[in-house]
Amino acid sequence: MTKYSKLALCALVFGAFTFTSCSSDNDDPAQEASIYERLGGTTMVADPDNAGQMIEQGRLSYRKVVNTTVGLIVADVQSNTTGNLSPHFAPLLTEVGAGNTTNLAVLVDNLTDFFSFNTGGTNAVNTYRGLDMVAAHNPAVNNRMGRTSTNADYNKFIGYVGAAAVQNGVAANTELYTDIVAVLESLRDPIVQ
Ligand code: HEM
Repeated sequence: MTKYSKLALCALVFGAFTFTSCSSDNDDPAQEASIYERLGGTTMVADPDNAGQMIEQGRLSYRKVVNTTVGLIVADVQSNTTGNLSPHFAPLLTEVGAGNTTNLAVLVDNLTDFFSFNTGGTNAVNTYRGLDMVAAHNPAVNNRMGRTSTNADYNKFIGYVGAAAVQNGVAANTELYTDIVAVLESLRDPIVQ
């Protein structure tokens, strides 16, 4: 089974239930390094997108995945197919269509912070300053959320994150990959409203 289909399977089969059954064999958190550490952690490397700057390898791994995910969402939105994600991202798309990418950059940064900080990358550089997941995905609170997300939308979204992880060679081993899937799945309840 490909990693992509494994993610989809986990997402579909286990739904909102506990995800330990899809998680790693090593269930003792004291023994296992955090996901952030396993993605490269705090080791400083040259930032390929910002000449002369350094970045934590864990953060860089996430940023690559987030950038690829955004690309997949843009392709989805432009596909003009039924059920695409354009209504959700309508405010952002209107801006980007007009050549204003400021909030797109903010979103990439916030997503990178969110994933990094919540999986063990707790240095200040990763501090998440956005809304909590319930507020961020409630159109009545966050006017940048064009409409609420269904389970089908959520499956699609995390499918893109999984595909982006595979494309970037992140989570190359199955254990790490399934741990990331578990984190994604744990966010379904607050986000699908
Ligand atoms: C693993 C699942 C997800 C995570 C971790 C996530 C995380 C986030 C974060 C951190 C923000 C930024 C909040 C802020 O700036 O205050 C955000 C915004 C947003 N999310 Fe999600 N999200 C997820 C799933 C989804 C899904 C399934 C949809 C819709 C199909 C969605 C649509 C949006 C939209 C439209 C915004 C606002 C974008 C903007 O600022 O223009 N998200 N999300």
